[in-house]
Amino acid sequence: MPIRTIIALADMRQLSREWRAAGKKTAFVPTMGALHDGHLALVREAQNKADRVVVSIFVNPIQFGPKEDFASYPRMLQLDSEKLTSLGADVLFAPNAAEMYPAGYETYVYNDKRSDILCGRFRPGHFQGVLTIVSKLFNTVEPDFALFGKKDYQQFTLLRKMAQDLCFPIEVIGHPTLRDPDGLAMSSRNLRLTPEERALAPELYRAMQMVKEALQGGQKKPQVLLDTLKKQLSHVPAFRLEYAEIRAAADLADFGETIDQPAVLLVAAHLGSVRLIDNLELSGP
Ligand code: PAF
Repeated sequence: MPIRTIIALADMRQLSREWRAAGKKTAFVPTMGALHDGHLALVREAQNKADRVVVSIFVNPIQFGPKEDFASYPRMLQLDSEKLTSLGADVLFAPNAAEMYPAGYETYVYNDKRSDILCGRFRPGHFQGVLTIVSKLFNTVEPDFALFGKKDYQQFTLLRKMAQDLCFPIEVIGHPTLRDPDGLAMSSRNLRLTPEERALAPELYRAMQMVKEALQGGQKKPQVLLDTLKKQLSHVPAFRLEYAEIRAAADLADFGETIDQPAVLLVAAHLGSVRLIDNLELSGP
């Protein structure tokens, strides 16, 4: 039997409330589809955490900028539905944009401190779009747990803070990034790399690992560490580095001269027409 698919918001909310009334816990995995093994690992963790698992697929128009890849974002609902069926997830929630954002829609969720740093500097409005859709999905699915990949580290940090600040009674859980055997972080956008680009893509992770090694070797100056990364990446001219920063793992605060608490290296780079992001949690000082 294929997985139960729900389109209407009211149907989703009703089912979730029935589960709650029956004493069942619900875990929720929000996605934009084109499901890869990273997503499937989230679904498995969700199944370990709760009695019922809802996976949403919605390519959220308001988190894409006017020049971004909304139109070409991979859409493969049938294949995704088959993957979720074989995992035994309970519901595929695939709302439509007309119901999510009816004419006259005008309310948005924004983080005043961390929406405009890192990816937000280059994608104005992106995190407002993410926080808005996830709060709408939270209000519809009403889950006990929500799971997000830490590949989107800034997104995960912002969503965890949003749940706390806006009193969503939901435990937000981050799942470690899954990587292909050569180190490339799994992402739906990897599907759009040419074979030549795909062969070069793991160089990004290799350069990031060099930063981690240098920190472990005693180098604690963010600028020196970032120079190591830039030098290494300059050997692969196909990459256009957008940003590379080292920030506090807990709250993305900026370091001054010295790394003095657990840190995360966050990077965005273009390879051909594809924008890759990745991050690496660096061990403590
Ligand atoms: O990470 C994603 O796929 C999206 O940003 C999310 C969290 C599903 C919101 O649209």
